[in-house]
Amino acid sequence: MSKAVIGIDVGGTTTKIVGFRSLENGAEELIAPQFVRATDPLTSVYGAFGKFTAENGLGLSDISQVLMTGAGAGHLRGPIYDLDCRPVPEFSSIGIGGLYLSGLDEAIVVSMGTGTALIHAKKENGGCQIEYLGGTGVGGGTLVGLSRKLLGVDNIDHIEQLCSEGDLANIDLRIKDLSHAHTYQGINENLTASNFGNVSDLASSGDLALGIANMVAETIAMLSIFAARSYKLQNIVLTGNLTTISSIRSVFENLSDSFGVRFIIPENSQFGTVIGAALSKNTVG
Ligand SMILES: Nc1ncnc2c1ncn2[C@@H]1O[C@H](COP(=O)(O)OP(=O)(O)OP(=O)(O)O)[C@@H](O)[C@H]1O
Ligand SMILES: [Mg+2]
Repeated sequence: MSKAVIGIDVGGTTTKIVGFRSLENGAEELIAPQFVRATDPLTSVYGAFGKFTAENGLGLSDISQVLMTGAGAGHLRGPIYDLDCRPVPEFSSIGIGGLYLSGLDEAIVVSMGTGTALIHAKKENGGCQIEYLGGTGVGGGTLVGLSRKLLGVDNIDHIEQLCSEGDLANIDLRIKDLSHAHTYQGINENLTASNFGNVSDLASSGDLALGIANMVAETIAMLSIFAARSYKLQNIVLTGNLTTISSIRSVFENLSDSFGVRFIIPENSQFGTVIGAALSKNTVG
């Protein structure tokens, strides 16, 4: 069996790791991706690497190269053990991973992690053309940070649980709350006019959690819709750990019809960036 290429993505909140091995028929086999959380980047890299190699029965001699990306990758000053370790840019990793997971040739790829980045990615001449479009500081960190301060809860499972009990009618101002006379013709009257614009004094913790998750998801959704429009594209691929939260996913599902776009959350979406990094082996020298 051929040696594996390992990708490691040291993000603002989690560290992800994945491997690819070339099979005899030329196809690339994905070795189960994993993620770990640790308080400091170095511990998380070695923790992720140790867990991944142990669980997949890989020795150091089974690994040909380690490709590192993410904001925290710079904390690793030298190679992991004596392996061939190289940095790869995060934005190209996001784009390459998004196209690989969705099977598309061109798309807007959104990384919804601690923060949010938007990429235009297009397959061209056997490679991948990548453009970083910008992003927003509104992301998963906003959800967790505001939940901690407003609700005293920062565990993501608990936040999800609260969201499932929430009602946006106690939080947001919708277009239909503002206008009964169909002033805004052709616009879905269920769309939000103002996030938290109608917050009730009696709003429950569930209502507030859902209001925060909804505001984060709507902000990212609208930015991606504008990006898609400017490229005359319909396909928007969503990646990052925010895609695992059901109240975030449903916001995208509900908005796609109103704006004529297709939001795609592929399998392994939370591992988009690290998969893209591991697949960058052909683009680094
Ligand atoms: N099991 C989980 N653990 C941690 N965060 C989670 C989890 N599930 C969902 N989340 C949400 O996802 C966010 C982190 O996403 P992700 O792990 O993709 O970010 P990252 O890659 O570390 O950050 P960035 O790409 O911005 O540097 C958290 O802020 C949280 O809102
Ligand atoms: Mg990330």
